[in-house]
Amino acid sequence: MAKIKPPVPPLPDSLNPSPRRAGTKPPPAGVIAQGQETGISAVNWIDERLQLSGGLRWALFRKIPRHDWTYSLGSSVMFAFLSQAVTGVFLAMAYDPSTTGAYESIRYTTNEAFLGEFLRGMHKWGSTVMVVLVFLHMAQTFFYGAYKYPRELNWVIGVVLLILTMAMSFTGYLLPFDQRSYWATIVGVNINGTGPIVGPYLSDFLRAGPEFGATTLSRFYAIHMLLVPGAIGAMIGAHLWLVTKLGTTSPPWNRPRHRPQGSDIGVASSAPSSNGSSDQ
Ligand code: HEM
Repeated sequence: MAKIKPPVPPLPDSLNPSPRRAGTKPPPAGVIAQGQETGISAVNWIDERLQLSGGLRWALFRKIPRHDWTYSLGSSVMFAFLSQAVTGVFLAMAYDPSTTGAYESIRYTTNEAFLGEFLRGMHKWGSTVMVVLVFLHMAQTFFYGAYKYPRELNWVIGVVLLILTMAMSFTGYLLPFDQRSYWATIVGVNINGTGPIVGPYLSDFLRAGPEFGATTLSRFYAIHMLLVPGAIGAMIGAHLWLVTKLGTTSPPWNRPRHRPQGSDIGVASSAPSSNGSSDQ
């Protein structure tokens, strides 16, 4: 079957400056105009060498089936994840992952460091926001039938992302190392241990041994700030690649009941349309 190359999405009007009208004066060349000119030249210089703008335009200015805010839920989760990554880096600057120093370093961040309480609040509430958004995004894709052919793999990657998001919350909870986080984590690890076959191995892996010990905290810290965020970053890359490749699913109530064969030609998606999904 001949492959249809989808057209490049058009730039929004706001990014297409209209040409100056004949007879009007050019704007005065002030500092701001010069600054803008410098920025544009620098970006053009980089783009001429890396040729990224085509790909970025392809990824960022895609059409969605209809004006519907629920399509922004996936990007909202991504934004929450980026916010967690940025605030996490700053929290890590003062955090001490040792059993004797963890609680004190968190106390220092909260009570003494510049904007520490704000930063910690952003990270703590941000984690809740991310979990809520992941579930909302999952519900949206479920109710729109976006898990069906040909997007099953993207749903599976989504499930992995959901598990990884939960792993972030679970491993982060121990880090303040107060009474609540300590005992809650023991309960959580024990629950993991009751899982069939892999459960006991998973508990041993999380505790870094058969008992809760001095290395458990470093194990949780490494999982929380290196292993899981790295895996989430890679999975988001695969998830978005599939979204750009397959296009976005229309809501079921917006689809024609009987679509003539080949009617996808010319729409902004190269995805097969057997479930009636399309980009327009
Ligand atoms: C860290 C977590 C996640 C991030 C950052 C993320 C990000 C995104 C983004 C940006 C999109 C494209 C825009 C949209 O349709 O909203 C998308 C689409 C999609 N996501 Fe996620 N997602 C995450 C988790 C999940 C989960 C938990 C599931 C389901 C189990 C899922 C399933 C899907 C599916 C099936 C699509 C395609 C939607 C369509 O074709 O209309 N995602 N995701």
